[in-house]
Amino acid sequence: MNVHETEKLYALFEFSGISQADGAEDADIIIFNTCCVREGAETRVIGNLGIIKKLKEKKPSLIVAVCGCMTQQQAVAEKLHKRCPFINIITGTYKLSRLPEMVKRIESGEKYIFDLELDLTVPCGINVAKRSDNVNNFVNIMYGCNNFCTYCIVPYVKGRERSRRKGDIIEEVRQLINGGCKEITLLGQNVNSYNDGDNDFYTLLNEISDIEGDFWIKFMTSHPKDLSDKVIDLIAEKDRLAHYIHLPLQSGSDRILALMNRKYDIAAYMKKIDRIKKKMPDAGLTSDIIVGFPTETEEDYLLTEKAVRQVQYNNLFTFIYSKRSGTPAAIMEGQVPEETKKERIARLISVQAEIANKKAAECIGKTYKVLCDSRDGKTLTGKTSDDRVIVFESEDKDLYNKFVNVKVTNVKNSKLYGKAVK
Ligand code: 5AD
Ligand code: SF4
Repeated sequence: MNVHETEKLYALFEFSGISQADGAEDADIIIFNTCCVREGAETRVIGNLGIIKKLKEKKPSLIVAVCGCMTQQQAVAEKLHKRCPFINIITGTYKLSRLPEMVKRIESGEKYIFDLELDLTVPCGINVAKRSDNVNNFVNIMYGCNNFCTYCIVPYVKGRERSRRKGDIIEEVRQLINGGCKEITLLGQNVNSYNDGDNDFYTLLNEISDIEGDFWIKFMTSHPKDLSDKVIDLIAEKDRLAHYIHLPLQSGSDRILALMNRKYDIAAYMKKIDRIKKKMPDAGLTSDIIVGFPTETEEDYLLTEKAVRQVQYNNLFTFIYSKRSGTPAAIMEGQVPEETKKERIARLISVQAEIANKKAAECIGKTYKVLCDSRDGKTLTGKTSDDRVIVFESEDKDLYNKFVNVKVTNVKNSKLYGKAVK
């Protein structure tokens, strides 16, 4: 999401006659588009600001702005201002469209802008973005979240759910496809609860999949409680919908899921997984897991391992529980010691590595439709419909942004290698 917000920022600045610099040393304006979902992201920003301080000492005219979710938290923004008084602009999550104007104000002599009001309007029309010319392009369908999982800061820094109008989304997708784009990822904190007042996610997805052209649609993120059977069946039925579903489980323990306020239990989650597998035996599944949520015992952790083995994900995004100030879980009794969290995540990563290796080995000899994303023509890479990366050989090197059939010939760890076939 932040990658796409930054693409929009580049487009906005280009309208104001400001172009992208090659690196921090060449820049007249440096903007940090931050994330606060876990502590690590915040620590990185603080570290980077230390480097920028030195640049600013050498070039006092340098304008430094910090925006995004991290600075949407009042207390964090104030602390940042005290610690780094050289920052010229501190603003929040949805203020991107105002940044060029704020920069102009600083250029005209204003010393400092501090504006944290959360903009909850839904942009009308097409989002203008300087696409990074990747094969995959992002399209927002909704903003914010209503779920209030007890560990998560997102609802506080991004506000309640609001959806873009279906017509605007379809038009944006159509323009991208007409411009040659082959893969679009629809973005939302919880895409399955998309609703613009007249249309739900099923209707949106169905209409997008009927647009003429040779392309794939992927989307993220799905909340297990909202992913409907109707949507699963639609993905199975329509060629343009990629067979890839990212379905965050978070924990394999019903007790922890309840404490997390996830509103599903393992039985309900597995029922969805079974339906996906039944309708699409070739579906690629990935997930997010948090280890070390408050009160998580060894037994709870082992239930997560069990669930991971049962689903057999292609890939897993594993996170150590990170205390986020202002969320209910941050003040829960029974915080798990850092050492235990680290030890559990290491075990989970090795369980998943074993699964990924086994699943990759099963691909040998199979042929996949692959969207090539390498431009240099030396090492050809691409992605499959189930979102696996594949490295392949081909006599034809001019394959960037083209679909090609690739037969998997060998695997190294969980990485797939193959050859283009007719
Ligand atoms: N600690 C650890 N992981 C978190 N996530 C969200 N909040 C936290 C937190 N406080 C993870 C969840 C979510 C992913 C985007 O980030 O797994 O699905
Ligand atoms: Fe956070 Fe839960 Fe919303 Fe995802 S669904 S953004 S984890 S509150």
